[in-house]
Amino acid sequence: MSTSQIEFHRVSFRYSDDQPWVLDDVSFTINKDEWVAIIGHNGSGKSTMAKLMNGLLMPDKGDIIVDGIKVTQKSIWEVRQKVGMVFQNPDNQFVGTTVRDDVAFGLENRGIKREQMLRRIEESLKAVRMSDYLLHEPHRLSGGQKQRVAIAGVLAIAPDVMILDEATSMLDPKGRKEILHTINEVKQLNKLNLITITHDLNEIIATDRVIVMNRGQVWLETTPRELFSDEQKLLEIGLDVPFVAKLANQLKDLAIEIKPQPLNQKELLDALWTLYFNK
Ligand SMILES: Nc1ncnc2c1ncn2[C@@H]1O[C@H](COP(=O)(O)OP(=O)(O)OP(=O)(O)O)[C@@H](O)[C@H]1O
Ligand SMILES: [Mg+2]
Repeated sequence: MSTSQIEFHRVSFRYSDDQPWVLDDVSFTINKDEWVAIIGHNGSGKSTMAKLMNGLLMPDKGDIIVDGIKVTQKSIWEVRQKVGMVFQNPDNQFVGTTVRDDVAFGLENRGIKREQMLRRIEESLKAVRMSDYLLHEPHRLSGGQKQRVAIAGVLAIAPDVMILDEATSMLDPKGRKEILHTINEVKQLNKLNLITITHDLNEIIATDRVIVMNRGQVWLETTPRELFSDEQKLLEIGLDVPFVAKLANQLKDLAIEIKPQPLNQKELLDALWTLYFNK
């Protein structure tokens, strides 16, 4: 058994021969059970990477290995069983007329028995707290609810990896919060690799590792903590620093150094408390 879930070995890709390389000699490894964020400016190749991970696209150079299997036209179905994707626009991912039909769709395609199918639908809707909406029409749900159903659809096929490609970017703050909560719960309940592609750095706080893409190349591999302590790096690639990180960095300028770099308000407050009241 290998410990790596997804490997990119010197992968290059372009959409056609007369266009520039979108990914240029990209290598990295994502280990089993890891939660990895992929960030980077618009057009840096993040969505292309996601599509290469489940065989929607094939590399022009290099190899992609998913759970020990090389991604080729031949292995595509096996790979898609292992890697599920949730996309940006909730309205584009529905095929069923009810929530139940919709979650069933991926299962029907895979020839799963009816009884097992019903159980999986039930379990995955429960995991995203949408059990009460079984017979609702998907297009009448809120944006956040739609994305939760989309996540249920992926969970139902029991993949090893779930990729969320800007899955919250079209939602209002409430919808975003719902999805972040759901994702955290799903991660706790399932043995699953999560890959979060996002522009919102608040979404990377809980991840184990961050891959920063820049112009089709891996620019940096780091942790959220490291990344937040280096505002300059983030600004260089046009990403906004989360509030807590900004505050901690400004305190550092005032000679109030908080170590390690706080990831959330609680960590910041606890550190200040200890610093000043020694509790
Ligand atoms: N179907 C396509 N045909 C041709 N070029 C494409 C296609 N899809 C993407 N591209 C180009 O490939 C490059 C990388 O696009 P990609 O969508 O992977 O970037 P991204 O990092 O996901 O960007 P964003 O943050 O805007 O989602 C861009 O220059 C884009 O214009
Ligand atoms: Mg994209």
